Amino acid sequence: MAKELESLKQYLVDARARKYALGGFCFWNYAYGMAIAEVAQKLNLPMLYIIGDAEVQFFGGLKNAVQAAQTVAEHVDVPVILHADHFREYDDIRRAIDAGFRSVMIDASAYPLEENIQRTAQVVELAHSAGVSVEGELGRIAGCEQKLSLSEEEAMQTDPDEAAYFVQATGVDILALSIGTVHGEYRFPPRINIPRLERIAEKVSIPLVMHGGSGTPEDKVAEAVEHGITKLNLATDLVKTAGQATARVQQQPGFGYSVANLYAPAYVDLARYAEHKMRLLAKNIL
Ligand code: 13P
Repeated sequence: MAKELESLKQYLVDARARKYALGGFCFWNYAYGMAIAEVAQKLNLPMLYIIGDAEVQFFGGLKNAVQAAQTVAEHVDVPVILHADHFREYDDIRRAIDAGFRSVMIDASAYPLEENIQRTAQVVELAHSAGVSVEGELGRIAGCEQKLSLSEEEAMQTDPDEAAYFVQATGVDILALSIGTVHGEYRFPPRINIPRLERIAEKVSIPLVMHGGSGTPEDKVAEAVEHGITKLNLATDLVKTAGQATARVQQQPGFGYSVANLYAPAYVDLARYAEHKMRLLAKNIL
Protein backbone atom coordinates (compact mmCIF):
# COMPACT_ATOMS: atom_id res chain seq x y z
CA MET A 1 0.00 0.00 0.00
CA ALA A 2 1.52 3.30 -1.12
CA LYS A 3 2.16 5.94 1.53
CA GLU A 4 -0.13 8.94 1.08
CA LEU A 5 1.18 12.29 -0.07
CA GLU A 6 0.33 15.19 2.23
CA SER A 7 -1.39 18.49 1.58
CA LEU A 8 0.74 21.60 1.96
CA LYS A 9 -1.29 24.14 3.93
CA GLN A 10 -0.61 22.89 7.47
CA TYR A 11 3.16 22.90 6.94
CA LEU A 12 3.27 26.42 5.59
CA VAL A 13 0.95 27.76 8.30
CA ASP A 14 3.45 26.40 10.83
CA ALA A 15 6.30 27.91 8.80
CA ARG A 16 4.70 31.35 8.84
CA ALA A 17 4.08 31.15 12.60
CA ARG A 18 7.68 30.13 13.31
CA LYS A 19 9.35 32.27 10.61
CA TYR A 20 10.94 29.63 8.45
CA ALA A 21 10.41 28.43 4.89
CA LEU A 22 10.55 25.23 2.87
CA GLY A 23 12.27 24.97 -0.47
CA GLY A 24 9.89 23.93 -3.22
CA PHE A 25 12.25 21.65 -5.17
CA CYS A 26 11.50 20.91 -8.80
CA PHE A 27 10.80 17.17 -9.31
CA TRP A 28 11.68 15.78 -12.74
CA ASN A 29 13.06 12.33 -12.08
CA TYR A 30 13.00 9.84 -9.28
CA ALA A 31 16.74 9.56 -8.58
CA TYR A 32 17.36 13.29 -8.27
CA GLY A 33 14.18 13.63 -6.24
CA MET A 34 15.48 10.96 -3.89
CA ALA A 35 18.81 12.81 -3.50
CA ILE A 36 16.91 15.80 -2.14
CA ALA A 37 14.52 13.72 -0.01
CA GLU A 38 17.48 12.18 1.80
CA VAL A 39 18.54 15.69 2.84
CA ALA A 40 15.01 16.51 4.07
CA GLN A 41 15.13 13.31 6.08
CA LYS A 42 18.53 14.20 7.56
CA LEU A 43 17.29 17.65 8.63
CA ASN A 44 13.85 16.32 9.64
CA LEU A 45 12.00 18.73 7.35
CA PRO A 46 8.98 17.98 5.13
CA MET A 47 10.03 17.12 1.55
CA LEU A 48 8.26 19.57 -0.73
CA TYR A 49 8.37 18.90 -4.46
CA ILE A 50 6.97 21.24 -7.08
CA ILE A 51 6.16 19.95 -10.54
CA GLY A 52 5.02 21.80 -13.65
CA ASP A 53 3.53 20.58 -16.89
CA ALA A 54 6.89 19.95 -18.57
CA GLU A 55 8.20 17.80 -15.72
CA VAL A 56 4.94 15.85 -15.54
CA GLN A 57 5.61 14.85 -19.17
CA PHE A 58 9.01 13.40 -18.18
CA PHE A 59 7.27 11.07 -15.75
CA GLY A 60 4.82 10.06 -18.45
CA GLY A 61 1.81 11.73 -16.87
CA LEU A 62 0.24 12.86 -13.61
CA LYS A 63 -0.37 9.40 -12.15
CA ASN A 64 3.23 8.33 -12.66
CA ALA A 65 4.49 11.52 -11.00
CA VAL A 66 2.23 10.86 -8.01
CA GLN A 67 3.43 7.26 -7.80
CA ALA A 68 7.07 8.36 -7.95
CA ALA A 69 6.50 10.80 -5.07
CA GLN A 70 4.63 8.11 -3.11
CA THR A 71 7.58 5.77 -3.61
CA VAL A 72 9.90 8.44 -2.20
CA ALA A 73 7.47 8.76 0.73
CA GLU A 74 7.81 5.05 1.46
CA HIS A 75 11.58 5.45 1.77
CA VAL A 76 11.75 8.42 4.14
CA ASP A 77 10.00 9.10 7.42
CA VAL A 78 9.29 12.80 6.83
CA PRO A 79 6.09 14.03 5.12
CA VAL A 80 6.26 14.21 1.32
CA ILE A 81 4.25 16.83 -0.57
CA LEU A 82 3.87 16.99 -4.35
CA HIS A 83 2.62 20.42 -5.41
CA ALA A 84 1.28 21.10 -8.93
CA ASP A 85 3.16 24.27 -9.97
CA HIS A 86 1.72 26.95 -12.30
CA PHE A 87 -1.27 24.92 -13.44
CA ARG A 88 -3.47 27.33 -15.34
CA GLU A 89 -6.67 25.52 -16.25
CA TYR A 90 -9.45 24.18 -14.04
CA ASP A 91 -9.67 20.91 -15.98
CA ASP A 92 -5.93 20.25 -15.61
CA ILE A 93 -6.21 20.82 -11.87
CA ARG A 94 -9.20 18.49 -11.66
CA ARG A 95 -7.14 15.82 -13.45
CA ALA A 96 -4.21 16.39 -11.06
CA ILE A 97 -6.49 15.99 -8.03
CA ASP A 98 -8.02 12.85 -9.54
CA ALA A 99 -4.49 11.49 -10.05
CA GLY A 100 -3.68 11.97 -6.35
CA PHE A 101 -2.21 15.48 -5.99
CA ARG A 102 -3.03 16.91 -2.53
CA SER A 103 -1.64 20.38 -3.26
CA VAL A 104 -2.10 22.56 -6.33
CA MET A 105 -1.35 26.02 -7.66
CA ILE A 106 -3.82 27.85 -9.86
CA ASP A 107 -1.95 30.57 -11.70
CA ALA A 108 -4.50 32.94 -13.18
CA SER A 109 -2.23 35.93 -12.60
CA ALA A 110 -2.21 36.81 -16.31
CA TYR A 111 -5.90 37.77 -16.08
CA PRO A 112 -7.36 41.00 -14.71
CA LEU A 113 -8.02 40.92 -10.94
CA GLU A 114 -11.71 39.95 -11.02
CA GLU A 115 -11.12 37.15 -13.51
CA ASN A 116 -8.14 35.92 -11.49
CA ILE A 117 -10.46 35.86 -8.44
CA GLN A 118 -13.20 34.02 -10.27
CA ARG A 119 -10.85 31.36 -11.71
CA THR A 120 -9.03 30.91 -8.41
CA ALA A 121 -12.24 30.69 -6.34
CA GLN A 122 -13.57 27.99 -8.67
CA VAL A 123 -10.42 25.89 -8.07
CA VAL A 124 -10.58 26.54 -4.31
CA GLU A 125 -14.13 25.16 -4.19
CA LEU A 126 -13.13 21.99 -6.07
CA ALA A 127 -9.87 21.46 -4.18
CA HIS A 128 -11.22 22.12 -0.70
CA SER A 129 -14.02 19.62 -1.22
CA ALA A 130 -11.23 17.04 -1.75
CA GLY A 131 -9.03 18.27 1.14
CA VAL A 132 -6.44 19.68 -1.28
CA SER A 133 -4.49 22.91 -0.56
CA VAL A 134 -4.49 25.75 -3.08
CA GLU A 135 -1.85 28.35 -3.91
CA GLY A 136 -3.00 31.36 -5.93
CA GLU A 137 -0.89 34.07 -7.52
CA LEU A 138 -1.36 37.80 -7.64
CA GLY A 139 1.01 40.09 -9.55
CA ARG A 140 3.11 39.09 -12.56
CA ILE A 141 6.51 37.42 -12.11
CA ALA A 142 8.85 38.60 -14.86
CA GLY A 143 10.79 36.30 -17.20
CA CYS A 144 14.58 36.13 -16.86
CA GLU A 145 15.18 38.30 -19.93
CA GLN A 146 12.84 41.06 -18.92
CA LYS A 147 14.84 44.10 -17.90
CA LEU A 148 12.23 46.48 -16.60
CA SER A 149 12.42 50.08 -15.50
CA LEU A 150 11.69 50.69 -11.82
CA SER A 151 8.16 51.91 -12.54
CA GLU A 152 7.39 48.99 -14.90
CA GLU A 153 8.75 46.63 -12.26
CA GLU A 154 6.55 48.14 -9.53
CA ALA A 155 3.49 48.02 -11.79
CA MET A 156 3.82 44.23 -12.15
CA GLN A 157 4.34 43.64 -8.45
CA THR A 158 1.66 42.53 -5.99
CA ASP A 159 -0.40 45.35 -4.51
CA PRO A 160 -0.90 44.95 -0.71
CA ASP A 161 -4.59 46.02 -0.67
CA GLU A 162 -5.41 43.86 -3.68
CA ALA A 163 -3.67 40.95 -1.99
CA ALA A 164 -5.90 41.26 1.09
CA TYR A 165 -9.01 41.49 -1.12
CA PHE A 166 -7.87 38.54 -3.29
CA VAL A 167 -7.29 36.27 -0.29
CA GLN A 168 -10.65 37.14 1.27
CA ALA A 169 -12.55 36.81 -2.03
CA THR A 170 -11.00 33.49 -3.12
CA GLY A 171 -10.44 31.60 0.15
CA VAL A 172 -7.03 30.55 -1.17
CA ASP A 173 -4.68 28.87 1.37
CA ILE A 174 -1.31 30.13 0.13
CA LEU A 175 -0.40 33.24 -1.90
CA ALA A 176 2.41 33.61 -4.45
CA LEU A 177 3.69 37.18 -4.77
CA SER A 178 5.60 39.21 -7.25
CA ILE A 179 8.22 41.30 -5.43
CA GLY A 180 11.05 41.45 -7.95
CA THR A 181 12.19 37.84 -8.45
CA VAL A 182 12.19 36.29 -11.92
CA HIS A 183 11.82 32.75 -13.21
CA GLY A 184 15.09 31.39 -14.61
CA GLU A 185 18.56 32.94 -14.46
CA TYR A 186 18.75 36.68 -13.78
CA ARG A 187 20.14 38.59 -16.75
CA PHE A 188 20.35 41.79 -14.67
CA PRO A 189 21.01 42.55 -10.98
CA PRO A 190 17.99 41.42 -8.92
CA ARG A 191 16.09 44.06 -6.92
CA ILE A 192 13.94 42.35 -4.29
CA ASN A 193 11.27 44.62 -2.85
CA ILE A 194 11.30 43.80 0.88
CA PRO A 195 9.35 46.96 1.91
CA ARG A 196 6.51 45.83 -0.38
CA LEU A 197 6.61 42.35 1.16
CA GLU A 198 6.37 43.92 4.63
CA ARG A 199 3.26 45.87 3.59
CA ILE A 200 1.66 42.74 2.13
CA ALA A 201 2.51 40.68 5.23
CA GLU A 202 0.77 43.27 7.44
CA LYS A 203 -2.47 42.77 5.51
CA VAL A 204 -2.33 39.07 4.63
CA SER A 205 -1.91 36.44 7.33
CA ILE A 206 -1.82 33.29 5.14
CA PRO A 207 1.53 31.77 4.07
CA LEU A 208 3.33 33.69 1.29
CA VAL A 209 5.42 32.24 -1.53
CA MET A 210 8.42 33.53 -3.46
CA HIS A 211 8.84 32.13 -6.96
CA GLY A 212 12.05 32.38 -8.98
CA GLY A 213 14.36 31.30 -6.15
CA SER A 214 17.33 30.49 -8.40
CA GLY A 215 20.01 33.18 -8.20
CA THR A 216 18.00 35.31 -5.77
CA PRO A 217 20.47 36.88 -3.28
CA GLU A 218 20.52 34.84 -0.10
CA ASP A 219 20.51 37.84 2.24
CA LYS A 220 17.25 38.97 0.59
CA VAL A 221 15.80 35.47 0.84
CA ALA A 222 16.63 35.37 4.57
CA GLU A 223 15.00 38.79 5.04
CA ALA A 224 11.93 37.66 3.10
CA VAL A 225 11.55 34.62 5.35
CA GLU A 226 11.53 36.95 8.39
CA HIS A 227 8.61 38.77 6.71
CA GLY A 228 6.26 35.91 5.88
CA ILE A 229 7.74 33.99 2.94
CA THR A 230 7.20 30.28 3.70
CA LYS A 231 8.10 28.61 0.40
CA LEU A 232 10.90 29.41 -2.05
CA ASN A 233 10.50 27.75 -5.46
CA LEU A 234 13.73 26.38 -6.92
CA ALA A 235 14.02 24.93 -10.39
CA THR A 236 16.70 26.44 -12.65
CA ASP A 237 19.48 26.06 -10.05
CA LEU A 238 18.70 22.35 -9.69
CA VAL A 239 18.82 21.70 -13.42
CA LYS A 240 22.04 23.71 -13.67
CA THR A 241 23.62 21.88 -10.74
CA ALA A 242 22.80 18.47 -12.20
CA GLY A 243 23.73 19.53 -15.74
CA GLN A 244 27.09 21.00 -14.73
CA ALA A 245 27.99 17.95 -12.65
CA THR A 246 27.33 15.54 -15.53
CA ALA A 247 29.29 17.78 -17.93
CA ARG A 248 32.24 18.17 -15.51
CA VAL A 249 32.65 14.50 -14.78
CA GLN A 250 32.94 13.65 -18.48
CA GLN A 251 36.00 15.92 -18.76
CA GLN A 252 37.92 13.98 -16.13
CA PRO A 253 40.85 11.85 -17.41
CA GLY A 254 39.93 8.19 -17.60
CA PHE A 255 36.18 8.82 -17.35
CA GLY A 256 34.18 5.82 -18.56
CA TYR A 257 30.47 5.79 -19.19
CA SER A 258 28.30 4.01 -16.66
CA VAL A 259 25.14 5.15 -14.93
CA ALA A 260 27.03 5.51 -11.65
CA ASN A 261 29.99 7.38 -13.18
CA LEU A 262 27.80 9.82 -15.10
CA TYR A 263 25.04 10.51 -12.57
CA ALA A 264 26.51 10.06 -9.10
CA PRO A 265 28.25 13.48 -9.12
CA ALA A 266 24.93 15.16 -9.94
CA TYR A 267 23.29 13.30 -7.09
CA VAL A 268 25.99 14.47 -4.67
CA ASP A 269 25.93 18.09 -5.89
CA LEU A 270 22.13 18.27 -5.76
CA ALA A 271 22.17 17.01 -2.19
CA ARG A 272 24.81 19.60 -1.25
CA TYR A 273 22.81 22.40 -2.90
CA ALA A 274 19.54 21.29 -1.28
CA GLU A 275 21.11 21.08 2.16
CA HIS A 276 22.55 24.57 1.83
CA LYS A 277 19.14 26.01 0.81
CA MET A 278 17.17 24.08 3.42
CA ARG A 279 19.52 25.28 6.17
CA LEU A 280 19.22 28.88 4.98
CA LEU A 281 15.41 28.75 4.77
CA ALA A 282 14.82 26.90 8.03
CA LYS A 283 17.62 28.39 10.12
CA ASN A 284 15.11 29.69 12.68
CA ILE A 285 14.07 26.13 13.60
CA LEU A 286 17.19 24.04 12.93
P1 13P B 1 13.59 29.33 -10.78
O1 13P B 1 13.66 28.47 -12.00
O2 13P B 1 14.06 30.72 -11.00
O3 13P B 1 14.23 28.68 -9.59
O4 13P B 1 12.03 29.49 -10.43
C1 13P B 1 11.28 28.35 -10.11
C2 13P B 1 9.86 28.68 -9.89
O5 13P B 1 9.51 29.73 -9.40
C3 13P B 1 8.87 27.66 -10.27
O6 13P B 1 7.57 28.06 -9.99
